[in-house]
Amino acid sequence: MKGLPLIEDIADNWENVQRFQAREDDLLLVTYPKSGTTWISEIVDRMCRDTSDRETKDIFQRVPYLEFAMPGNTSGTELLDKQDFPRIIKTHLSAETLPLSFWEKNCKIIYVSRNVKDVAVSFYHFHRMATHLPESGSWEEFLEKFIKGNVEYGSWSDHVRSWWKRRQQRNILYLSYEDMLEDLRREIQKVMMFLGKDLSDEVLDDIQRHTTFSVMRENPMTNYSNAHRMDQTISPFMRKGICGDWKNHFTLAQRERFDEHYHKEMAGMDLTFHF
Ligand code: A3P
Repeated sequence: MKGLPLIEDIADNWENVQRFQAREDDLLLVTYPKSGTTWISEIVDRMCRDTSDRETKDIFQRVPYLEFAMPGNTSGTELLDKQDFPRIIKTHLSAETLPLSFWEKNCKIIYVSRNVKDVAVSFYHFHRMATHLPESGSWEEFLEKFIKGNVEYGSWSDHVRSWWKRRQQRNILYLSYEDMLEDLRREIQKVMMFLGKDLSDEVLDDIQRHTTFSVMRENPMTNYSNAHRMDQTISPFMRKGICGDWKNHFTLAQRERFDEHYHKEMAGMDLTFHF
């Protein structure tokens, strides 16, 4: 759709998504897949919603996935229609394909980026276990598709660039997965300030405690153990949660080819990543 490769069910639901009416108090969380979407969702949900449903509702119900569509399941837009306000909404859409009403209503947006090599690795393992996605093939085959942007949501660099370009004109907080790993408390505080909240140290401690990798991995409401479309015996959703796992996957030749490609793609951009 508009140059963005999407799985068929999502493409078929495109018009519904484009017609979605955002409200001024909607908060949008945007990522390229496998960049820390679930992580930022849990942080923001804990920060913004003072409810007890966290024990019984999966993260994908508390923070609906805007463009989600799958036969026999409630779509993202249907779920959002039933959501209490203010809503927290997840999307992987590029800035160019985001429904217009989010821009018209000047909604707050949090974008999380992650270094591209770890994204590729995480996406590969996700393709192995997610039954709704095309077969991953071997790591080598997947990497080729990823470099060509021949995967769901297309080219990583187009995505990162499209949101980076808009971060200054728009209401966008741009975070990185690696910064969150480095100092979770600092990044939680950034989110708090962006959302105009003033939370006590006690509340911040609580958010931090519940959003570490080890706690989220064991929490059935955040580890996707209730998602039917994933076979976690193949690879867990909460897989490693580290920076640098790419070093266990890339051969030297793959690394060189990849680096050359991405230096070209990212040329002229004042955006750097920790690898
Ligand atoms: P890995 O596959 O590298 O382990 P998304 O939610 O966008 O699909 O991203 C999933 C990735 O984020 C997975 O990466 C997952 O382990 C990681 N992740 C989720 N919660 C995390 C947390 N609290 N701390 C660190 N990484 C986390």
